[in-house]
Amino acid sequence: SRSPQSSIGLVPTMGALHAGHASLIERSLRDCDLTVASIFVNPLQFGAGEDFERYPEQLDRDRELCQALGVDVLFVPDPATFQPSSDPTAQVAVVPPPGMLDHLCGPWRPGHFPGVLTVVLKLFQAVRPHRAYFGQKDAQQLALIRRMVTDFHVPIDIVACPIVRGSNGLALSSRNQYLSETETELAAHLFAGLQAAQSLFNCGERHGEVLLHAARSHYRQQPQLRVQYLELVEPDTLRALNTIERRGLLAVAAFVGKTRLIDNVVLRDRRPIIAIDGPAGAGKSTVARMVAASLGLQYLDTGALYRALTWLAIQRNLPIDDEIQLVDLAAIASIQLETTVSPDRPTRVWIDDREVTDDIRTQRVTQQVSAVSALGGVRRELLRQQRAIGRWGGVVMEGRDIGTHVFPDAELKIFLTASAQCRAERRQLDLQAKGDTIALDDLKARIEERDRLDSQRAIAPLRRAPDAIAIDTDDLAPAEVSARIETLYRRLTEPSSLDL
Ligand code: PAJ
Repeated sequence: SRSPQSSIGLVPTMGALHAGHASLIERSLRDCDLTVASIFVNPLQFGAGEDFERYPEQLDRDRELCQALGVDVLFVPDPATFQPSSDPTAQVAVVPPPGMLDHLCGPWRPGHFPGVLTVVLKLFQAVRPHRAYFGQKDAQQLALIRRMVTDFHVPIDIVACPIVRGSNGLALSSRNQYLSETETELAAHLFAGLQAAQSLFNCGERHGEVLLHAARSHYRQQPQLRVQYLELVEPDTLRALNTIERRGLLAVAAFVGKTRLIDNVVLRDRRPIIAIDGPAGAGKSTVARMVAASLGLQYLDTGALYRALTWLAIQRNLPIDDEIQLVDLAAIASIQLETTVSPDRPTRVWIDDREVTDDIRTQRVTQQVSAVSALGGVRRELLRQQRAIGRWGGVVMEGRDIGTHVFPDAELKIFLTASAQCRAERRQLDLQAKGDTIALDDLKARIEERDRLDSQRAIAPLRRAPDAIAIDTDDLAPAEVSARIETLYRRLTEPSSLDL
């Protein structure tokens, strides 16, 4: 039994656990109240002539490791009941979109990904976690699982974890156990080749052919490394990429002796994005503006975007709940936001070249804006615009679902919280400045009610992204909160940070 608030994290594995698996488990332990690790060597995902029969098994050691890490539940399904048949045609199976199998391991391991997705969905059904953790090491698997979760409306957050490598750069893998000492040395060149491309990319090279050539030349010097594929694809759709605009997945598979190994790097051309989410009244907007101003980033004022659209709808006498007309309006209106902000004045806004900064902040707009932002179609259209603005990064955004929905791959996610008491006190001060007096208890009750509604609403519910860093602002001034975020950002932009 679980209390309504407790969250469950699932880490699916095939056992023979190593530090890569451990990193997923540790992440889940940090994010979730209860962590389930599963060990199941899934016959469906092995092809003829692959290593199913000799896949390393070390259940006792795995169990000890899980225990030492603090895993709450180790789930080791019985093959006889969990996966009674190894014949993929004898059951309902998940069919990946063929276009996502055209590259990387897809053509070389027919049947592998349907087998993976089928068993992962079964694990999801058996455990019903809130979050599930996967390694970037298996980038194609990760992209397909994300796609499955989206397409089947599976209510589970998929959390990607960076690749854990040995001291020589070799990505950890259960299959590394097959390697002799000399083979291990050879295998390290897999990553070295990718790094050759990475360093060119870091110098500004964006042409796929040139980047691939750099890695290929490295591999040619190691003829015993038999490369199966070396490809550059778009990380989400897995389509081939000729030039990298924003992100590219450079992936390789090679045989070292009889052992087949894979590795990859994500090349990304984007300045970091800072996503600040949290409940109303936690000080998000003030802090976001301060952070943007002091780091020289853009501030994307989502609220102003919605206000501008609302103002325009009122202006044109459109019924505020007419989703179709409002979506059209959102698509054709040219709303321009000032992006270089200052903490102490509202964002300047233009619609079709006319400044509307003050117009959009009237009482009338304030009253209607939440109705407009509750329209799914409008949110989708404005989401598209927000993503376009943030495409090159270097922006700070705040809201309720920036880190979970608008930019789930934001480099720095912050969740600002403050107790209802504290937010009520702050609100009271604001109101007093305007000459209003409302009892503190009333304000507190309203805030608690709003939190409840915000976390339950169907569209853009308030949720903390599993990888968001929580900052409790009760005892902190906005400048202190901002300073903390700036430190986190600087740490992130230092050259040694992980590239994920
Ligand atoms: P397995 O190869 O055991 O890997 C389990 C998880 O650990 C995967 O999400 C994988 O990407 C991650 N992982 C492996 N090596 C890693 C490393 N060096 N750094 C970070 N993460 C790493 O992948 C599978 O099992 C199976 O296909 C499974 C998802 C369990 C379905 O059967």
